[in-house]
Amino acid sequence: TNALLVVNASHTSTRKIPEKLFGVFFEEINHAGAGGLWSELVNNRGFESGGQHSPSNIDPWTVIGNYSLLRVSTDFSSCFKRNPMALRMEVLCDNDGPNICPVGGVGIFNPGYFGMNIEQGKSYNLVLYIRSLGSINVSVSLIDHSGTRTLATTNIIASDVSNWTKMEVKLEANGSDSRSQLLLRTNKKGVIWFDQVSLMPMDTYKGHGFRKDLYKMVADLKPGFIRFPGGCFVEGEFLRNAFRWKETVGPWEERPGHFGDVWFYWTDDGLGYLEFLQLAEDLGASPIWVVNSGISHQESVEPNNLMPFVQEALDSIEFARGDRNSTWGSVRAAMGHPEPFELKYVAIGNEDCWKPYYIQQTYPAFYNAIKKAYPDIKIISNCDGSDTPLDHPADLYDFHLYQNPSDMFSMADIFDPTSRVGPKAFVSEYAATGKDAGQGNLLAALGEAGFLIGLERNSDIVEMASYAPLFVNDFDRRWNPDAIVFTTSEAYGTPSYWMQHFFAESNGATLLKSTLQANSSSSLEASAIVFQNPVDKANYLRIKVVNFGSSTVSLKIVIDGLDPNLLGTSGWKTILSSANVTDENSFEQPKKVSPVKSLLEKTGTNMDVVLLPHSLTSFDVLT
Ligand code: AHR
Repeated sequence: TNALLVVNASHTSTRKIPEKLFGVFFEEINHAGAGGLWSELVNNRGFESGGQHSPSNIDPWTVIGNYSLLRVSTDFSSCFKRNPMALRMEVLCDNDGPNICPVGGVGIFNPGYFGMNIEQGKSYNLVLYIRSLGSINVSVSLIDHSGTRTLATTNIIASDVSNWTKMEVKLEANGSDSRSQLLLRTNKKGVIWFDQVSLMPMDTYKGHGFRKDLYKMVADLKPGFIRFPGGCFVEGEFLRNAFRWKETVGPWEERPGHFGDVWFYWTDDGLGYLEFLQLAEDLGASPIWVVNSGISHQESVEPNNLMPFVQEALDSIEFARGDRNSTWGSVRAAMGHPEPFELKYVAIGNEDCWKPYYIQQTYPAFYNAIKKAYPDIKIISNCDGSDTPLDHPADLYDFHLYQNPSDMFSMADIFDPTSRVGPKAFVSEYAATGKDAGQGNLLAALGEAGFLIGLERNSDIVEMASYAPLFVNDFDRRWNPDAIVFTTSEAYGTPSYWMQHFFAESNGATLLKSTLQANSSSSLEASAIVFQNPVDKANYLRIKVVNFGSSTVSLKIVIDGLDPNLLGTSGWKTILSSANVTDENSFEQPKKVSPVKSLLEKTGTNMDVVLLPHSLTSFDVLT
């Protein structure tokens, strides 16, 4: 197949792409945060799991020893008001008495989130709250998953802990295992209460608690924004299980945690509202805060009862932006961030447009109150304005798109007919899904690449876009496909993750007009941008072409309006392709489908290039 791409590089036909066109969407789904990006190793550190609105349980904590040796229960004796449960452990055996404890002692262990990654030479900070009427001698150890190797150990000994006492010890690992467990044991008779047991690696991004390898994978996408803390996760199946930010701020020990009933797992909310804002700041990405609008999957709060939700949203903005003397700004400052965060975008709910009250009462109540207090905040409506203009004021409208790969590809032009006036689109969730997309294969990535090229072209009215979901813990797949797959110790990007790298330089770049001429059977999408490389500060022309078809394409690229002498004599060609469209990455072959960069030896304003079947190719030339 032959095709022609004409790029017009004259200044009259260029347009600046929004600074934040491509970003990321983080949702607490698939254990993306608890057991993922958030480095806490203990799962259910406060023994509240299941609660606070249903009976709490100690899962996945497990008892070491039988009923004749110890009795374990929970009671309401915690010293923390908002998370009242503590673990009561009555030890019946004693090495100084007739009922001798088994070797190693009795107690409890925590397997973390599908195991704890403990690495030789690294340090781990253990904090726990303890109380006992007598003296205590508790051994704390990290052991490998088979229970045979001790990787770190220490003892907590105290003569008087009759009042709740915070203990903090450092564990140094002298061995590694990615599925380790934390054990708390004793061989001394008596009653001990435990609460808020936390084990954090000392080695997190900037000490901010983010798992470094996963953080880096997100940062490498150079996201212009980060939408958080989720879609459905924000709503909850029922409001009582929704993400309510006030429960996620303040000292970590005092956070109640909650059961996310859409993705069906407990989170201690260590990754809370402040940590999300911190993450955005660290990434240099604009925070896009999705507030709970009083609508869950099953309920819509009656308009008369909406005020507390509106106030909660206003307070959340004060928390982020208020000065340190304001009511909520002072809470932020006390958490170690006296400077305000740059919060400029608030989304009112998630996928709530068609739910009762949203358009007539809910959205306007939030919109009016927020605009009155913070006129510069950009407000995002859940209603789609791409087809017909919105009937309510908004700065942006949310647009979600999950399609099979080939429909995704053909939706590159979905915003072509959209009105050029009115609120802009925020494509906050897009992904190729379904059978043809597998668990994230090449075909899915190519469908998405075609769609994104369409968004670049329409970036006069599409302001931002992000893939969904960002993360999946391989032990707890709730949604397929995802961009980044991880276990406790490893991670890889799906082809969709690598596809996004081709667009990482588009934010703030200059879009050139380009036209493709191809025969009707070809499936091509192309765009051309000029971006400044932050490293050498030089300007590069980047042409991206997706060949969604199964034939090789000979493409002639003609660059009009550019002095050929201004073009570098060589450049770079980067290809995302693979032997089969169904190819995926895996822990065994993490980069099977990933960009391959090579030298582009012959450049010019007239170039003949070959596009592989089923490929995304970018050509970068100094200009
Ligand atoms: O991305 C997964 C889910 O898809 C989001 O939670 C929700 O907004 C959408 O339905």
